[in-house]
Amino acid sequence: MELSFPRYLLAKQSVDDRALNRVVLADLQNALATWPIGQALRVVEVGAGIGTMLARLLRWGVLPPQVEYILVDEMQENIDFARNWLAEWGKQNGFDAQTGEDGLRFSAPGANIQIRFCQADVFDFMRAEAGFGYDLLVAHAFLDLMPMPESLLSLFGLLKPDGLAWLTVNFDGVTSLEPVLNPALDALIERLYHQSMDLRPSGGDSQSGRHLFGHIEQAGGEIVSAGASDWVVYPAKGQYPAEEAYFLHFILHFFENSLEEHPQLDAGQFANWLAGRREQIRQGKLVYIAHQMDFLARKKQPV
Ligand SMILES: C[S@@+](CC[C@H](N)C(=O)[O-])C[C@H]1O[C@@H](n2cnc3c(N)ncnc32)[C@H](O)[C@@H]1O
Repeated sequence: MELSFPRYLLAKQSVDDRALNRVVLADLQNALATWPIGQALRVVEVGAGIGTMLARLLRWGVLPPQVEYILVDEMQENIDFARNWLAEWGKQNGFDAQTGEDGLRFSAPGANIQIRFCQADVFDFMRAEAGFGYDLLVAHAFLDLMPMPESLLSLFGLLKPDGLAWLTVNFDGVTSLEPVLNPALDALIERLYHQSMDLRPSGGDSQSGRHLFGHIEQAGGEIVSAGASDWVVYPAKGQYPAEEAYFLHFILHFFENSLEEHPQLDAGQFANWLAGRREQIRQGKLVYIAHQMDFLARKKQPV
């Protein structure tokens, strides 16, 4: 199977659509409902991938009519994909999508969405843009990859006082794959997989969700709301919806990448375990649950 990260992010959309916490989302919508007409909401999304969250926010009518939205991601492949994919998405969803030198503009009667793309390491971006005073920070399926709490402190530096941070799909320590293949091996692989997140040299935390309560406080934010946003992927009558079989294969690819040659795993046993899990996907039997958490926070005014 061809493994493409942008295709994984496309396949992830329907899983994320179900997962995003609706209470936290409603609080974001309520907060943005009073945004002044005619004033552009300035949004920065970090680790934005191929732009599916912007498409979702437009699809769900969360954003006000005037928006300046910048997508930051370190992977050139994602940024290139985002430019083309978002332009196409806009055209198919009622916008006049114009590509310009500085990005993309979506227009529709009464609406103007100015989109910029920035291929950069988020730390370079934060250094360059600290104090810019964005109105809204979006970080989706991203913060659990970052060194904490220092990254969040710098990310809050991008916001104006009172600015909002919508921090979604932060992994929180539970992975479940059913049906069980081998209880002892399943448990060992889950434990080592979580440990690999904690040991990543670039940062990461397998219990990022629960730790964000403290990290948001430390970064100078107050929590408006929080709730679970678990991925729950399951077949209906032996079939996965949308591209979710591909999504599941990619999750197993993450397991393989993180744990191949792990000294505590027998290589042959692990290979058989992966083959067994892949067969469960082909047969439409695998159920995958990952516990995650969403937050809406507000940057406190300086005292
Ligand atoms: C799990 S993906 C999520 C992408 C997107 N938010 C989504 O859910 O579709 C994490 C993204 O963060 C980006 N990323 C990881 N570390 C980064 C860094 N230091 N600076 C900028 N982007 C980074 C990756 O390239 C990847 O696109």
